[in-house]
Amino acid sequence: MKALQPGLALLCLLLTAVCTDCQSWSLSVPHKISALQGSCVVVPCEVTYPGEAKSADEVTTIWYKNSDTMFSSKEQVDRWKQIGDIELRNCTLEIDQVRNTDAGRLHFRIEVKNLNSYSFKENLVTVELVDDPQEPKLNSPRDVKAGDRIFASCEALHSCPSHPPQFTWRNTKGLSHAQHQKLENGEWKSSSTLEFTPAIQDNDKKLTCMVEHRGGKIKESFVLLNVKYQPRIQNSSSCSVDTTTVSCQCHVDSNPESQITWRVRNREMGANITYQKGTTTVGTLQAAFPLSRNVLCLATNSYGKDEKSFLLPLHEKPEIHNDSRCAINATGLFCICFVNSTPPVDIQWQLPGASLSSSITKNQGDMTTAILMDPITSSQSISCLAVNDYGTASMTFTVPKYEKPEIHNDSRCAINATGLFCICFVNSTPPVDIQWQLSGTNLSSSITTKQGDMTTAILMDPITSSQSISCLAVNDYGRASMTFTVPKDDLMWYLFIALPSAAVLLIVVLVVVVCRQRAGKNTAEKNINYVNKKTSVDSEDYRNGEKSRYTSWEINEHQTSYDQDIYCNEHPVYGNTEELQEMPHEYSRSSTVEAEDIYANM
Ligand SMILES: *[C@@H]1O[C@H](CO)[C@@H](O)[C@H](O)[C@H]1NC(C)=O
Ligand SMILES: *[C@@H]1O[C@H](CO)[C@@H](O)[C@H](O)[C@H]1NC(C)=O
Ligand SMILES: *[C@@H]1O[C@H](CO)[C@@H](O)[C@H](O)[C@H]1NC(C)=O
Ligand SMILES: *[C@@H]1O[C@H](CO)[C@@H](O)[C@H](O)[C@H]1NC(C)=O
Ligand SMILES: *[C@@H]1O[C@H](CO)[C@@H](O)[C@H](O)[C@H]1NC(C)=O
Ligand SMILES: *[C@@H]1O[C@H](CO)[C@@H](O)[C@H](O)[C@H]1NC(C)=O
Ligand SMILES: *[C@@H]1O[C@H](CO)[C@@H](O)[C@H](O)[C@H]1NC(C)=O
Ligand SMILES: *[C@@H]1O[C@H](CO)[C@@H](O)[C@H](O)[C@H]1NC(C)=O
Repeated sequence: MKALQPGLALLCLLLTAVCTDCQSWSLSVPHKISALQGSCVVVPCEVTYPGEAKSADEVTTIWYKNSDTMFSSKEQVDRWKQIGDIELRNCTLEIDQVRNTDAGRLHFRIEVKNLNSYSFKENLVTVELVDDPQEPKLNSPRDVKAGDRIFASCEALHSCPSHPPQFTWRNTKGLSHAQHQKLENGEWKSSSTLEFTPAIQDNDKKLTCMVEHRGGKIKESFVLLNVKYQPRIQNSSSCSVDTTTVSCQCHVDSNPESQITWRVRNREMGANITYQKGTTTVGTLQAAFPLSRNVLCLATNSYGKDEKSFLLPLHEKPEIHNDSRCAINATGLFCICFVNSTPPVDIQWQLPGASLSSSITKNQGDMTTAILMDPITSSQSISCLAVNDYGTASMTFTVPKYEKPEIHNDSRCAINATGLFCICFVNSTPPVDIQWQLSGTNLSSSITTKQGDMTTAILMDPITSSQSISCLAVNDYGRASMTFTVPKDDLMWYLFIALPSAAVLLIVVLVVVVCRQRAGKNTAEKNINYVNKKTSVDSEDYRNGEKSRYTSWEINEHQTSYDQDIYCNEHPVYGNTEELQEMPHEYSRSSTVEAEDIYANM
């Protein structure tokens, strides 16, 4: 039929000029058309008849199946409808909600008022019933690269252009638009074009095109997307270390699978084992410990690469710091042990044959600190023991003796032939510094000697008009002081004997005279002239935190007796200085009595 049309048109062109009535009866319909059950079918139809085109009410059209009237333009039924404009000689028919009974061979009849009627029994249209639509034809690349712009199309054939099928794309976000294209013999091709950008997550997903035909019948097609992407090293990758080996696992998500290598100290090494799990490639590294602090995993495929570095945990045997110690401060005896180790260790305190529990343990990073407060021990040593899986370390400390300074009571200020001197003996552990003080002013000691726990300080010839000189001993654990009084008169006396010997002789004479006068009056029991007097002793024990001022005594009796009496003895008067020099004028109860007696007679 179609082949006839150009011929007819040409004929018309040729004939219209001469006659308008020369068109003859003809019909153009498809020979065969398929109709989806429940859907619609549009049967294209063009008719010609002689003479001018008539108005619709002058033309009646009828469709017959065999001899049954299926449609008449005079009495239209619901499902059969003439959708062509008959005034334009368009007799296109639509059958909606196609049923079994619609199928078959149809022929067309036209009745034109005041002209004629014509049944086109030669131009049969065979309506073929189709139960199910065909699957749409999906055109899409299967292998796509993540992030690229991709076009896909989906086509469906049908013969219901008045209600074309609806397209839906699933599992993707994109823009789509539909097109409809007329084919031959009443057939149509509808299509939808989709523009989308596949993401990594779209890998292995179905890109689906769903077509819903008029009447509700649905068909779909899909492609399984193979989204290619560059390696991505996963969070689950890790390295672990035990005493002998380093094991690393690098989990790489990629498509296609990755080549995994390791880099240790700028040296590349292949993965020992590689396996694939879905899109995850796992590469492992097994090496002897220690390897390096840093291990790098490199993953490569044809789309790119990724790398991740692993900081290996430091696993080392504990190390005890040099400044660990046992010491005494104002709180008391304490031992402190600093241990560097990864992972942190347990620290134990040990006495020979026993272990002690640590009072305080702190961890900060790799450093563990253990403090042992006030261990009650008679032992000379305490050990700190640190153990982890990789080794043991220990350090032994000597327990320091705790002693506050103590000033011996034979410390004194005295005069001997050399002159006035003060001597201070202090017992303490560790040895102290001794400070001489004169009414609160520090003097520098002329001589300080330390021997064992004993410190001796000698102050020679203090030039002073003060009557009191103090010896102050301070160590970390306490302080002690002792004050010596130099009686004023003694001082004057002392100054006096420093004069030339003539003066001394004069004194001797005076003494002899007086002694003779006072003979027998001498009360001999305390015939000592104390040049110095210990007037007070202060002692402070830091450990007790409080200053306890204890011993304080005065030896006044001599002073009073001095004031009232002149001591003399039966011995001859020593008038020469040589003898004087031989006799130290010290705080001594017996040996210097004679000499002191002489001086006392001043
Ligand atoms: C006839 O009418 C149908 C329905 O309106 C239309 O789709 C078709 O294009 C028409 N045919 C011609 C030749 O104009
Ligand atoms: C790794 O995991 C953590 C916690 O789950 C997350 O915060 C982080 O973003 C992840 N990093 C990568 C690269 O996936
Ligand atoms: C793993 O690979 C490294 C380097 O290729 C090699 O030195 C090591 O011996 C391997 N380890 C094992 C357990 O195969
Ligand atoms: C400990 O101290 C000694 C001497 O001061 C030194 O030679 C040694 O390297 C120190 N050890 C540590 C671990 O600091
Ligand atoms: C003494 O040392 C211990 C341990 O370091 C500390 O806890 C304490 O506070 C110290 N006491 C004083 C008074 O410094
Ligand atoms: C001074 O020392 C002597 C002898 O060592 C001793 O007998 C005396 O009690 C001591 N005096 C004081 C006050 O400590
Ligand atoms: C006097 O005593 C001081 C201190 O003990 C001493 O160094 C000096 O030698 C003594 N002088 C004489 C003459 O004994
Ligand atoms: C005197 O010496 C003592 C002990 O060495 C010290 O604590 C004090 O500050 C000194 N005083 C002065 C005024 O220098």
